[in-house]
Amino acid sequence: MLRAMTVAALVLAAGRGERLGQALPKAYVPLAGRALILHSIEKLASVPELEAIVPVIGASDRSRFDALGLGAQPKLQPPVVGGAERQDSVGAGLAALPPDVQWVAVHDAARCLVAPEAVSRVIAAAKAHGAALLAAPVRDTIKRAREGRVVETPPREECLAAQTPQVFRVDLLREALAKAAAEGFTGTDDAQLVERLGVAVHVVLGDASNWKITLPQDLAAAEAWLRENGEEGDGIG
Ligand code: C5P
Repeated sequence: MLRAMTVAALVLAAGRGERLGQALPKAYVPLAGRALILHSIEKLASVPELEAIVPVIGASDRSRFDALGLGAQPKLQPPVVGGAERQDSVGAGLAALPPDVQWVAVHDAARCLVAPEAVSRVIAAAKAHGAALLAAPVRDTIKRAREGRVVETPPREECLAAQTPQVFRVDLLREALAKAAAEGFTGTDDAQLVERLGVAVHVVLGDASNWKITLPQDLAAAEAWLRENGEEGDGIG
């Protein structure tokens, strides 16, 4: 039974990940021999503040998910089927949370190198402020461009790359999703939807290693990172 004040994580894995150029959906592509989603679930399972983990999977991925053999992980909840857009997948995950879950950490399965201590920090910030995300300073100067022309160069010291987990009071994220749906707005992360409510989202600086596996070279870099950090043999199974 989940207690009041429980923090649950949604692990978003319902995207196809076409930029990775693999036949398998991205979450099931192996990294050091194990599916990306498995790495992500293992990382989150080791965060003491997280009491429940809800995988959000593609409609046609149920047998792939079951084949991961994750049954023995006590925090793991039954998987939920996601939707066409990332936002729909978040909505499906939220709808499946037990009513007494008050905080939700939304995490991309594709950010499988996330540091558990960074997850703890972003949960603490959300509990203090209502909404928080992990983010990293950018290396490049960022340009806003439209139709091939620069329209703005925001000061680099103010630019951050948004990561996950992004952690919210559940009622706040529900309200943000409802407003976005009512207005036909689709965002690329969840914090953006909460920002549109006029709520301040607190920034917690994360590690550069928390990158999203997106392109083929990201997989090779992640394998090298695991080797260098001696994490190849970890696992909950
Ligand atoms: O497409 P993008 O890389 O931004 O997706 C980030 C995360 O959201 C991935 O882990 C992906 O599986 C998930 N996602 C989802 N449902 C979708 C689209 C993306 O769960 N419809």
